[in-house]
Amino acid sequence: MSTVPDPLPDRRQDGPQDGLRILVTGRDGQVGWELARVLPAVGQVTALSRAELDLASDGSIRAAVQRLRPHLIVNAAAYTAVDRAESEPELAGRINAGAVATLAAEAKSVGAAMIHYSTDYVFDGGKPAPYIETDAPNPLGVYGRSKLAGERALADAGIPYLVLRTSWVYGARGKNFLLTILKLAAEKPELRIVADQTGAPTWSRDIAQATLAVLRRWLAENVPGENAPAPDRFDRQKSGVYHFTASGATTWFGFAAEAVRLRALTLPAEQNLARLAPITTAEYPTPAARPENSQLDCGKLARTFHCRLPAWNASLGDVLAAIAHAS
Ligand SMILES: NC(=O)c1ccc[n+]([C@@H]2O[C@H](COP(=O)([O-])OP(=O)(O)OC[C@H]3O[C@@H](n4cnc5c(N)ncnc54)[C@H](OP(=O)(O)O)[C@@H]3O)[C@@H](O)[C@H]2O)c1
Repeated sequence: MSTVPDPLPDRRQDGPQDGLRILVTGRDGQVGWELARVLPAVGQVTALSRAELDLASDGSIRAAVQRLRPHLIVNAAAYTAVDRAESEPELAGRINAGAVATLAAEAKSVGAAMIHYSTDYVFDGGKPAPYIETDAPNPLGVYGRSKLAGERALADAGIPYLVLRTSWVYGARGKNFLLTILKLAAEKPELRIVADQTGAPTWSRDIAQATLAVLRRWLAENVPGENAPAPDRFDRQKSGVYHFTASGATTWFGFAAEAVRLRALTLPAEQNLARLAPITTAEYPTPAARPENSQLDCGKLARTFHCRLPAWNASLGDVLAAIAHAS
């Protein structure tokens, strides 16, 4: 984790906060899995799977929050099937917006704050520069609309909250573009990859570590005692939306090309990987339209929390080293 220069000493780096109870949803997802391993540095973490907390059921959400009475809910669960969402708009809306409203209402009833993840797909991609938080969203599809509705439900709930908009999430486990490309590159002679959409591939572990860094900064300067309610623990002034992606940008083609190049370095010379061919979005039609430019400017995150996620290609190298080590 790189940080930007910070004039203030950070008095909250030393260990878990007294009695800070954290509920993480989406335990088996890319981000939830990493959060469950990183957040115990600041508190007592209960990470729940879909079977233990089903966002499709208000009763399940209520039961989990009332049982655990967390000070902080980190919502890493989501309906993330961008193309399938086009034919399941009700389900996508229920998980990505309705459940966020219910989680936030339950958070309010127990005095908890919330961290929630959103997406670059809230934008239409027409801006010829990185988006900032005050740019007007205009999602192109059902998934982006459902995530935007979730952001708004949380902002309206009246609790301390952070919406962290990330993009192109990948890692060494789970279902993601990187693992699909590595598998196909070992099986096929050629892969045709879209080269006219630009964004920032972001490692799930970087998201978890940056969330930890942000959380440490978000906790109020004078940490109150164990029984203090969440509104006193978190700095309400910092509530809001933050862009939260890896540094730098590339295209899906650039991402795939770098992944295949790095993978080839770890394989015997006779083991060939696919040749990559750049194509346009028009040559690869999908049910959901995607933004042409989804770069997010993360300056507000750096200014507020003194935190910057690593460069996408540096992290990609780390992930491929881990994959090579494991295979
Ligand atoms: N993936 C991306 O490229 C991307 C890009 C931008 C933003 N984001 C945002 O980043 C956050 C984390 O995404 P991710 O990449 O970690 O997603 P992911 O790997 O698809 O994981 C999503 C998790 O949500 C869980 N889930 C789905 N429906 C649920 C339900 N009804 N009740 C409880 N849990 C449910 C899934 O459970 P199962 O394991 O049981 O399926 C899964 O564990 C999400 O808010 C997402 O919108 C992701």
